[in-house]
Amino acid sequence: MPNPPIEPRNDAAWQSTSRLLIAGNWKMNGSMDALTTINEIAIAATSASGTIEVVLFPPTTLLAPAINLIRPHTLRLGGQDCSSEATGACTGEISAEMLADAGANFVLVGHSERRKRHGETDDSVRQKALQAVEAGLFPIICIGESSNERAAQKTMEVLTTQIMEAVPRTVSATSFAIAYEPLWAIGSGQAAEDRDIEDAHRHIRTELQRHWGLRSEAIPILYGGSVSPSNCSAILALPGVNGLLVGGASLNSGQFSAIIACAAELAGRSAE
Ligand code: PGA
Repeated sequence: MPNPPIEPRNDAAWQSTSRLLIAGNWKMNGSMDALTTINEIAIAATSASGTIEVVLFPPTTLLAPAINLIRPHTLRLGGQDCSSEATGACTGEISAEMLADAGANFVLVGHSERRKRHGETDDSVRQKALQAVEAGLFPIICIGESSNERAAQKTMEVLTTQIMEAVPRTVSATSFAIAYEPLWAIGSGQAAEDRDIEDAHRHIRTELQRHWGLRSEAIPILYGGSVSPSNCSAILALPGVNGLLVGGASLNSGQFSAIIACAAELAGRSAE
């Protein structure tokens, strides 16, 4: 008999399946003085709470001070990566358990910049996601095609392979999210077309259904790649989009708060 799926053990992790998940990825930006920005984002997240969930991925150095700062707020924090190992001789790496210990609830795994610059494979991304779930973190597993793969009309094929290989099969459908980030849309100022986002999200959902069946409805699928205050409401309104992974625009509290407010408004309207 197969083992039961590993359930998330951190109640604080994102549990709701019906709310929009808005994530901000700061990448390698932000020093101590950026705590003011984090505080502003936390205020925006709190005023939108109840309808959406907001999580920020600052650099690891800011995690512990930020956790203290945002304690009265509903903003969640996450690490931008974690080790594929639980512990040991991995100089420079941070384990999922350490991120949880610092107060993080989430972690990004398989971001294309990690895959490209650090040679991460689907196999290592899957190990990282597994470590995350076992440590009680909620991983957001990033997938997406390159511009060459897109030009060769291989987008769906690439997404299928990434889902098959980078998503651990032993975890429950309530323990992780997927972020669809076409590589060519990241940091380019050129988000994917609505139709392409919709098609990719539908394909991802179908692939997830193969393994998790109806329970796959619980898996949020986020879009990422040049999301801004001006395109967020159109993207969030697309069928199959359950949230956003925002890079550049999340560094500016005004812009990120505008995206948060836009998501809250949409979520509020659909709840009516
Ligand atoms: P971007 O980055 O919003 O600046 O395109 C998104 C990401 O890399 O997650």
